[in-house]
Amino acid sequence: MTITAPEQGHRIRDRIPLPSPALQVEGRASRSDRYAVHITRSPEETLERLAPLVHGRGVAIITDEVVESLFAPRLIGGLRALGCDVLVHAVPAGEASKSLEQAIRLWGRLARSTLARRDVVVALGGGVIADLGGWVASAYMRGIPYVNLPTTLLAQVDGALGGKVAVNHPVAKNLLGAFHQPVAVISDVSCLRSLERRHVAAGLAECIKKAVIASPDYWCLIRRDAAPILAGDEGARERLVRGASAIKTVLIERDPYEADLRRPLNFGHTIGHPLETVTGYGPMLHGEAVAFGMVAESRVAAGRGLLPAALLEELIELLRGCGLPTCGADLPVPVAADDIVAAMEKIRLIRAGSLRYVLPAAIGETVIADDVGEEETRRALAACGL
Ligand SMILES: NC(=O)c1ccc[n+]([C@@H]2O[C@H](COP(=O)([O-])OP(=O)(O)OC[C@H]3O[C@@H](n4cnc5c(N)ncnc54)[C@H](O)[C@@H]3O)[C@@H](O)[C@H]2O)c1
Ligand SMILES: [Zn+2]
Repeated sequence: MTITAPEQGHRIRDRIPLPSPALQVEGRASRSDRYAVHITRSPEETLERLAPLVHGRGVAIITDEVVESLFAPRLIGGLRALGCDVLVHAVPAGEASKSLEQAIRLWGRLARSTLARRDVVVALGGGVIADLGGWVASAYMRGIPYVNLPTTLLAQVDGALGGKVAVNHPVAKNLLGAFHQPVAVISDVSCLRSLERRHVAAGLAECIKKAVIASPDYWCLIRRDAAPILAGDEGARERLVRGASAIKTVLIERDPYEADLRRPLNFGHTIGHPLETVTGYGPMLHGEAVAFGMVAESRVAAGRGLLPAALLEELIELLRGCGLPTCGADLPVPVAADDIVAAMEKIRLIRAGSLRYVLPAAIGETVIADDVGEEETRRALAACGL
């Protein structure tokens, strides 16, 4: 194909040959998605990073009602001062908004606005908003750009990164979704000032997971900084978010579309997800369930002689120090081992007979095992007091 200089417009000349009858016709498409992850310390710095991405464009802010009242007025003021046409769509706060109904409402509002393909969605909020806003952006006009402005620690260290976007379906969590990478992630740690300590601890659980599976350096950083992070030290929070972003982006790049299901990032989730299911997705935060899951799965690893007992104790001590649940007595509602095992059996059926465990052997070293039986799981749960 040649494109000539624009005299009266671009002239495109093509000479595509017809294939020989023996040649397989093949569809091809490839693209490379790269995006910057900025860690900022104030709304002004956040706006500075956002400005080049939205300059001269329309902006649709998707947020929840709590986050809207905390952060939207300042952001809207800043964007309007940059000359952006800004719309705000706030959904009720909470997991229930990660639904097809809310997505349809949002598409309706976008369709009735002037938002077009070159404009930008800004997802301002926690993991629920990153998932919902990203998914709405992924389907609207076959995909428009979106920027994540995560406001919870969990979203800054996990949910806003990696381009996995989805809403829930009554049959399963995250059932309707896509891969749609953001054009940037801007994590403003000053947003975390208003976050409850319990939510900070839940975010820390996902950081501890990343350290165990992939980074002795990050493990040391968290052990040193966990207390100041919980107490609100913004320098420590910035280092924590930067570390998690770097680790997650490296792990995602190895397999961005999850062709391989043997993912170390699932550590703590084999038991954590069923625990969320049996407690009814309410009393426990995701990060809390993952914390308990990491302990139970590490007990499986220790039972196999993979994980040294001293390291298991270090992990438990670190999680406990953050106020995260590590045994049955810490759970907010009574849970029976039978219920967890039954929920895991359902997952085993969906996954054609196999349940995958990520078993830590050392900090930065995991073994993916398909052969952990029910008895082994029960022994580990019993060791956790269930
Ligand atoms: N796509 C992914 O890769 C991925 C990864 C991890 C988690 N997730 C998803 O993330 C969701 C959980 O994320 P979450 O824990 O951030 O939940 P969330 O988005 O519901 O936020 C938790 C609560 O905090 C409030 N909030 C947000 N920012 C605040 C702030 N700065 N100050 C005070 N309150 C604030 C919200 O209004 C909400 O009530 C789940 O749906 C989970 O599936 C997705
Ligand atoms: Zn998780």
